[in-house]
Amino acid sequence: SPSPASLLTIFGASGDLAQRMLLPSLYGLHRERLLPPGLRILGSARSEFDDAGFRENVAQAIGRFVPAGDLNDAELRGLLERVHYVPATLGDEASFATLGQRIDALREGGDAVYHLSTAPRFYGDICRALGAMDLAGPGTRVMLEKPIGHDLASATAIDDAVAAVFDEARIFRVDHYLGKDGVQNLLALRFGNALFEPLWNARHIQQVQITVAETVGVEGRGDYYDDYGAMRDMLQNHLLQLLCLVAMEPPSHFDPTAVRNEKIKVLRSLRPIGRDEVATETVAGQYAAGAIAGQAVPGYLEELGRASRTETFVAIRAQVDNWRWAGVPFYLRTGKRMPRRSTEIYLQLRQVPHSIFGAAPQPNALVIRLQPEERIELQVMSKTPGLDRGGLQLSPVELDLDMHEEFAAHRRRLAYERLYLDAIEGNGTLFVRRDETEAAWQWVDAIHDGWRATGMLPKPYPAGTWGPSAAATLIDRKGHSWRE
Ligand code: BG6
Repeated sequence: SPSPASLLTIFGASGDLAQRMLLPSLYGLHRERLLPPGLRILGSARSEFDDAGFRENVAQAIGRFVPAGDLNDAELRGLLERVHYVPATLGDEASFATLGQRIDALREGGDAVYHLSTAPRFYGDICRALGAMDLAGPGTRVMLEKPIGHDLASATAIDDAVAAVFDEARIFRVDHYLGKDGVQNLLALRFGNALFEPLWNARHIQQVQITVAETVGVEGRGDYYDDYGAMRDMLQNHLLQLLCLVAMEPPSHFDPTAVRNEKIKVLRSLRPIGRDEVATETVAGQYAAGAIAGQAVPGYLEELGRASRTETFVAIRAQVDNWRWAGVPFYLRTGKRMPRRSTEIYLQLRQVPHSIFGAAPQPNALVIRLQPEERIELQVMSKTPGLDRGGLQLSPVELDLDMHEEFAAHRRRLAYERLYLDAIEGNGTLFVRRDETEAAWQWVDAIHDGWRATGMLPKPYPAGTWGPSAAATLIDRKGHSWRE
């Protein structure tokens, strides 16, 4: 079994993700003494920094992106002592040779983690270069950021190139949603309680909704985003991972093989949606100018500065064709420029089989909110206080668990804190296996093919609304409505 790494090398270390998430996560781990004491951090990118210049850059990122209350000079200095930098450019062999020598020296014979936070088209070449320098043998691991590829064919090509250097057990595909406490809590809720699991199936659950709504647009990332769109940027990975965790069978252990074996079964049970189904089972949207919280915002095309058919919203009625979920719609929806930020999973139970109180009571529901705050709500019916003639009046009420109140002494962590610790220790449970990404692409590709074959284009929606009205029609067809 792997030993804790002595070196973490970040490729793309001057990029946006590193500044906002990766370096602040490492600071948080360092401050709490959670990093292996001797762990060194080596940044690399095309930018020409020396160690001192990069440390300055790290200090700035941490000053900007770590909450003020968590900042501490001595801790920051301690982190910076771990930090080094070597510029490297693919194609410039001398720069890679220098990088290789530095990796070798800093590692001191210990395990090494390489985190590729670059454009995915470079993954193959970076891995090849590491392999050629004999830096990818046993005791090394590689973390890959999403999206791996653009479709199944390009994902397979990247996976093959990486697999020529690292075996699958040493490849850690990041889906940062799996690093979120709230997402792991879904597993705790399902498999740490006897209460829910007996109800967790088609006999008792009528519909499931998974929503990831963002208020942000695509701002500075237009060039990346326009090539991908909501389906490739969010649905292929984050939403399908959430769906897996909601729908999977109980794994027999919390370990990489057992958990991922259950997730892949869900992905393989997804009913394909192709050209004959896209019109009724999917909706794509693109935001036009509008307003969010009273603030006027431009449309996608204005932000992008050119014409585009890329979707910034997608809603899908998915079906998991297996015994547990036969007939239960899983509504998936994600979009930019929605009225508010909200990530949640909503499970609506079936009606009571017979109502003794007259009008049918509202069905129970379980809501697992992940963002902006973590809370769990169980909606139940209760008697409305009072003296009603000829029966009881019922009202829906909520059993409401606010995780931040409940665990007030705990800091809210960045997803990468958990993911880095696990990768440093070599635990892949919260990372995505090759067969998962590829099965997800296969399902998503069929939808894209369907859109192309039928000429389906994204429908405009004003920024600050819940997507095109067709999204409401999609769900209304089964008598359901989106939870808002
Ligand atoms: C990223 C997407 O994977 O997830 C972004 O590329 C998106 O477009 C982000 O904004 C959302 O992550 P979170 O953690 O803020 O929900």
